[in-house]
Amino acid sequence: MAAFIPEEKVAEVREKVDIVEVINDYVQLKKQGKHYLGLCPFHGENTPSFSVSPERQLYHCFGCGAGGNAISFLMEHDGLTFVEAIQSLAAKTNVDLPELEDQYPGEREQHQSKKEAHQMAAKFYHHLLMNTEQGKEAYDYLTARGISEEIIEEFQLGYAPERNDMLVQLLEKREYDLEEMEEAGLILRQESTWQRYDRFRGRVMFPIHNQRGQAVAFGGRALGEGKPKYLNSPETPIFLKHETLYAFPKARQAIRKQDEAVLFEGYMDVIAAWKAGVKNGVAGLGTAFSKRQAEQIRKATDKAVIAYDGDNAGRAAAWKTGDTLVNQGVDVRVALFPEQMDPDDFIQARGPEAFRKQLAERAVPFMSFKVQELRENKNLQNEGDRLAYIEEVLRETSVISSAVEREFYMKQLAEEFDLSMDALREEERKVQKEDQKEKAARAPSASEAGKRWRSGALPKKQVSMRSAYENAERTLLAFMLQNREIAEEVKERIGGEFNIDAHTALAAYLYAYYDDEHEPDVSRFMEYVEEQELINLVSELAHLDIPTEISDNEMSDYVEQIKIRPKREELLQRQKQLKDAERSRDSEAAQKLGARIMELMMQLKKN
Ligand code: GTP
Ligand code: MN
Repeated sequence: MAAFIPEEKVAEVREKVDIVEVINDYVQLKKQGKHYLGLCPFHGENTPSFSVSPERQLYHCFGCGAGGNAISFLMEHDGLTFVEAIQSLAAKTNVDLPELEDQYPGEREQHQSKKEAHQMAAKFYHHLLMNTEQGKEAYDYLTARGISEEIIEEFQLGYAPERNDMLVQLLEKREYDLEEMEEAGLILRQESTWQRYDRFRGRVMFPIHNQRGQAVAFGGRALGEGKPKYLNSPETPIFLKHETLYAFPKARQAIRKQDEAVLFEGYMDVIAAWKAGVKNGVAGLGTAFSKRQAEQIRKATDKAVIAYDGDNAGRAAAWKTGDTLVNQGVDVRVALFPEQMDPDDFIQARGPEAFRKQLAERAVPFMSFKVQELRENKNLQNEGDRLAYIEEVLRETSVISSAVEREFYMKQLAEEFDLSMDALREEERKVQKEDQKEKAARAPSASEAGKRWRSGALPKKQVSMRSAYENAERTLLAFMLQNREIAEEVKERIGGEFNIDAHTALAAYLYAYYDDEHEPDVSRFMEYVEEQELINLVSELAHLDIPTEISDNEMSDYVEQIKIRPKREELLQRQKQLKDAERSRDSEAAQKLGARIMELMMQLKKN
């Protein structure tokens, strides 16, 4: 259930808050004309493209497109819920909030019941683990693995009993739509009998939370040797694996405070580390560590320690994860655990203190880890192996942006193999040339584009590349944000017929916003919009320099441009189809197409 703050209190906070003051706590801002500029906290950059407008009470980053108002800034940056953001701003602006009522104000949150069902299931499984005879075996299992009641509470661990339909029955009793619960991944249905049954049975349950700390999925571990060892929720509308990190909402504060995140492979590692006093740990979800996950880490800190298992699979995964993080501008170190040990085993064997030391002092820079890995399985006494090794190391180090660091590794090679620095530099150039040739053959990868982006070599946004109809749509939307009458006129003349999906979606929000009797207020409107991407778009549009008035002629021009666009597209397509029809001597089709083409050309001419 969501807590509820009365609308007039929200309005009061909104009125009193100054976005410049709020963001100044996080970003050093410098006044520049009407705006303030600083380094964007949402992506790594060296030249400021993050702009804050005191007049409009909005921020927008021209580099990464992030944008919003003071409330959404806190939600995005600190991962707060709307209510938490208001609470934080209320404290800052000395607005007294009434005691929060635990009621659901009908706020239009998508998939609310799926999330609520997860919340309830988590409580249910937790209760079964803690208080029932059925849960005893699981409780003993956890105890044997050194997990105390306090930790069980902390992570809301639970137990799903062997029985077939415990959760189905509960969901039914609480009047959840069972079809939706199937979609949420909580229950399944037997093909032959159509009987519904619980997905998780006889497993220790680890609730998995989204960025806002809402339970959206589970990992279920078999007791003992059952197969599969872990059963995870499937991908669902509320659970996107490549965007989720286990324990992230819990760890975020510690990550910020220590300015470093620790990445584990397993849920149990995160939990064992927490118990050992390492509270900035998160884990992936048994899937390859993704760019999106790296971006989330990067928002909280620019330093990470990878603490994967010490076996071959773990080291190979650490290499990949490290690359993904480095590409997002995260400085990576790798903590290694003795062969076949995972962090959890290490803590059990050597104790918390040794573990903390392993992370803090023994973790090596990512590049040293790579060098060490490249050495594996090579006999450096052998000339061929030795040359291959040197080449591989240079290939890795040549892309390091810091000259000092590059020199460091090169000196290491020079000393170890008694080579001159000049010879190594020569070799490095050769390797680089080869790489460039290879790269030219491929399209540039996202990571390379990302690197160039960060170094400022890429143009920030190619405004001139937008076509006329796209600019027409953007301009109209920008006007609609400021002016109810314009929005109403556009609704009548264009309705949902924008050519770009995001624009259609935004227009729909605007129509609804004004229908709800709201006044034009970009900042207020942002809270109305649910998708972060659209919020970013709003902030971008609000930063466009447009006049306050629009003439009838201009309006008609824009509307035309938007309306004829699909016809232009159709015309091109039909012309292509006509050629095909002629080629295959399908005269009937050709005739039809010809007629349609004439019709379209007439319509376009009229405009
Ligand atoms: P313990 O073996 O109980 O210590 O768990 P762990 O968390 O250390 O797991 P492990 O290192 O074996 O695996 C790491 C992660 O991979 C787990 O947390 C799961 O997310 C995932 N995983 C492991 N085994 C399976 C499996 O059989 N199926 C699926 N889907 N995921 C798995
Ligand atoms: Mn383990």
